[in-house]
Amino acid sequence: MIMGFHVLQIILLTVALTSSSSSSSSSSSSSAAATPPPNFPIAKPNCLNRCGNVNIPFPFGTTDDCYESENFFITCNQTFNPPKAFLKNSSIEITDISLDGQLRLLQFIAHDCYNRNRTRVSYSDPWIYLPVFFTVNNTANKFTIVGCDTYGFVSGRRLNRNYQTGCTAMCDAEDDLAEGSCTGLGCCQTSIPKEVWRVELTLKSYENYSYVWGFNNCSYGFVVEESAFTFSPKNLTNLRNVERLPMVIDWAIGNGSCKEAQMNSSSYACRSVNSKCYKPSNGYGYRCYCPEGYQGNPYLVHGCKDIDECQNSSLNICEKKCVNTAGGFQCVCPKGYHGDGRRDGRGCIRGESLAYKLAAGFALGVIILLLAACWLHLELRRRRQNKMKQKFFVQNGGILLQEKLIRRERSSDTAKIFSSSELQKATDNFNNSMIIGQGGYGTVYKGLLPDNRIVAIKKSKVVDPNQIEQFVNEVIILSQVNHRNVVKLLGCCLETQVPLLVYEFISNGTLFEHVHNKAKARSLSWETRLKIATETAGVLSYLHSSASTPIIHRDVKSANILLDHTFTAKVSDFGASKLVPLDQTQLSTMVQGTFGYLDPEYMQTNQLTEKSDVYSFGVVLVELLTGMKALSYDRPEEERNLANFFLSVMKQERLFQILEDNVVREGNKERVMKVAVLAKSCLNVRGDDRPSMKEVAMELEGLKVGAKHSWVQTENSAQDMESLLSEGFSGYINGAGYSTSIGFDSLRDQIILPVDGGR
Ligand SMILES: *[C@@H]1O[C@H](CO)[C@@H](O)[C@H](O)[C@H]1NC(C)=O
Ligand SMILES: *[C@@H]1O[C@H](CO)[C@@H](O)[C@H](O)[C@H]1NC(C)=O
Ligand SMILES: *[C@@H]1O[C@H](CO)[C@@H](O)[C@H](O)[C@H]1NC(C)=O
Ligand SMILES: *[C@@H]1O[C@H](CO)[C@@H](O)[C@H](O)[C@H]1NC(C)=O
Ligand SMILES: *[C@@H]1O[C@H](CO)[C@@H](O)[C@H](O)[C@H]1NC(C)=O
Ligand SMILES: *[C@@H]1O[C@H](CO)[C@@H](O)[C@H](O)[C@H]1NC(C)=O
Ligand SMILES: *[C@@H]1O[C@H](CO)[C@@H](O)[C@H](O)[C@H]1NC(C)=O
Ligand SMILES: *[C@@H]1O[C@H](CO)[C@@H](O)[C@H](O)[C@H]1NC(C)=O
Ligand SMILES: *[C@@H]1O[C@H](CO)[C@@H](O)[C@H](O)[C@H]1NC(C)=O
Ligand SMILES: *[C@@H]1O[C@H](CO)[C@@H](O)[C@H](O)[C@H]1NC(C)=O
Repeated sequence: MIMGFHVLQIILLTVALTSSSSSSSSSSSSSAAATPPPNFPIAKPNCLNRCGNVNIPFPFGTTDDCYESENFFITCNQTFNPPKAFLKNSSIEITDISLDGQLRLLQFIAHDCYNRNRTRVSYSDPWIYLPVFFTVNNTANKFTIVGCDTYGFVSGRRLNRNYQTGCTAMCDAEDDLAEGSCTGLGCCQTSIPKEVWRVELTLKSYENYSYVWGFNNCSYGFVVEESAFTFSPKNLTNLRNVERLPMVIDWAIGNGSCKEAQMNSSSYACRSVNSKCYKPSNGYGYRCYCPEGYQGNPYLVHGCKDIDECQNSSLNICEKKCVNTAGGFQCVCPKGYHGDGRRDGRGCIRGESLAYKLAAGFALGVIILLLAACWLHLELRRRRQNKMKQKFFVQNGGILLQEKLIRRERSSDTAKIFSSSELQKATDNFNNSMIIGQGGYGTVYKGLLPDNRIVAIKKSKVVDPNQIEQFVNEVIILSQVNHRNVVKLLGCCLETQVPLLVYEFISNGTLFEHVHNKAKARSLSWETRLKIATETAGVLSYLHSSASTPIIHRDVKSANILLDHTFTAKVSDFGASKLVPLDQTQLSTMVQGTFGYLDPEYMQTNQLTEKSDVYSFGVVLVELLTGMKALSYDRPEEERNLANFFLSVMKQERLFQILEDNVVREGNKERVMKVAVLAKSCLNVRGDDRPSMKEVAMELEGLKVGAKHSWVQTENSAQDMESLLSEGFSGYINGAGYSTSIGFDSLRDQIILPVDGGR
């Protein structure tokens, strides 16, 4: 009795061993090496993230709270070694899941076998019905038949229709067959259509294997990952040992478009702060991804993690020092060097040409020495214990600033110089909870001054001599301008390691957010848009012509236009601006600005004129009209640059198809058309063909009050207007989170090019 039990156990053991070894050999040949776990979290906390060799990224999960919905439920059967993953509670085994929206499963193969009497001895026609919104990947898989007297079909459902396709495999002798060739001789392949979610296989024979039985008595059919199957004549016989082959499935979330999914924020699956949404080219629903510069699982709340490009020299192009930023990086040159610090750019160069450097260096050295000595002498006498603060004061351009401010003393409204302790108190010691914005160049804090004024405090990230120059520049320019549509600079602080600027607090964020955040854009009416445009044009016009010395802003963009609670526009960020001496109309400068807004003529010639601001303003106007971003890598190539796209749309008279919903609904068609024509004229390639900012402001002012005055002739005004299709834009772009008024977030948005011949 005991003996018999042992024998039985041994038999069971051998069966288990052979079956597991045969199945592991077949699956290891197909699924290649198991994907290693990535170096970021892929599953929800306290959820299984790996079953055997299979990663289980959220939205997939093995237990109740771990998956997005029933469809993404995975059974991890621990009785196997290693454990195996199955789709839902079915017997469909999964060997790989990728966050790109693919998974690999093992699917049974069909076979059809005959004996020498031409009668069928075994037959199987397997099928697979996928859970809703999982579809068979149409590019990675092929329907394949192996046999010498056979034809077969793959059929099932796609969308709500039936489909059927198939092929024929014949041969007369084994010599006819060729290694690797699957074109009808002993093997045939055909592609399957898109959007297939139900697959049924059928095999048939022409002659019941009468003439080929001697060397081939079975045929096989399967949908297989193309790269996992290469035909060999041996497969006519050795496929009998194979039970299942891998197949690639595309998965996605829900059955609606990105736009529809974003309507319902509670079920919108792109949960990570930075994650974006796209529509797969096969199947239903939408998928999420982390944008460039980020990696991780976009379906988890904090899934997309910033890549520290500085840790890996093949990810950044910095010659010397690299500073990681959210979504990108910055190249910095060490002290005593200048240049853009980029390996593919000018790199870090020590000083200028030798002769120039000697002369300039000597002169500068003497001046600086004198200044420093004089200043140090005074300061040391005054307050010895404040050595540290004073060091920062010099470093931050304090002397330069003080001098310039003293020269402008007569103007009543000069900026105040704050002490560091004052600002520390105001921001609760730069507490993280006071941060209201973060960008490439630094952080903006909210602060409360002792007199109960709320202020915004801008703190630069890096101490870079070039930025000190910009910082001083901004202080000088802003302290000159006094206009209700310009952010008011209250003062600055020079005693900290990085300079701090203190502005009036603008409560309602940037225009960029209001135009590109879906919820906010909906409440931004046409009248408000027009008002913001008019005010912005007004202030630019003032800067160009009315201010005591003309000022070119140089970085006009929606992210630099702030809005207060009454939606009054406040132009900000004068870090790049230029004062134009009255007798000069154009300046040779380094090209600087933001891609998407940058005047093409200026980019080519390096000649900065007021018309460059007109161009950038034109782009902002188009943003207001269309709700699209100035530059978006999510759009098709020809639509990437909004200005060019808009001009081509205007040319084709399709304007009303790309307008923002509110503009279409509320805007008077004729006035909308006039604004569009005005935007078009601002975007003229030749600066001379663009209107001046003053003309633009007058035209907008006229449209705002509805007067008849018109600068531009609306030649093709009221055509095409009946085609106000309210059909959604398939390319809706997810709101990009908070953006501040301080500069650029990633390298691809920012350019600084050298002027010919250097400075
Ligand atoms: C795991 O697989 C074994 C063998 O196929 C089966 O008997 C068992 O029911 C499975 N367990 C689960 C939880 O599906
Ligand atoms: C799988 O689950 C569904 C519903 O959850 C149930 O109807 C079905 O019977 C289950 N199938 C098996 C094989 O357990
Ligand atoms: C088919 O041929 C193989 C050998 O080539 C043989 O082992 C097998 O039994 C045959 N099958 C049938 C159903 O006759
Ligand atoms: C084939 O048919 C003959 C007679 O018709 C019969 O004797 C023989 O057993 C059959 N062979 C098989 C494999 O069925
Ligand atoms: C093949 O076999 C089927 C039944 O097994 C029979 O009906 C059919 O006539 C046969 N065809 C040929 C060409 O022998
Ligand atoms: C086809 O035959 C080749 C050569 O024997 C073999 O390496 C391969 O695994 C076979 N393909 C399948 C799917 O069994
Ligand atoms: C798919 O979406 C439509 C609406 O777009 C809805 O009516 C339908 O029920 C959805 N189907 C499933 C299976 O969720
Ligand atoms: C939004 O999603 C939640 C959770 O999935 C669902 O209960 C609710 O019905 C959805 N609302 C709409 C308007 O689709
Ligand atoms: C199909 O699979 C290939 C390779 O795995 C992948 O590149 C492609 O994006 C997939 N198709 C879709 C629509 O996801
Ligand atoms: C650096 O990045 C490259 C390109 O993405 C990658 O192939 C390589 O493995 C990375 N090296 C390290 C050490 O992470």
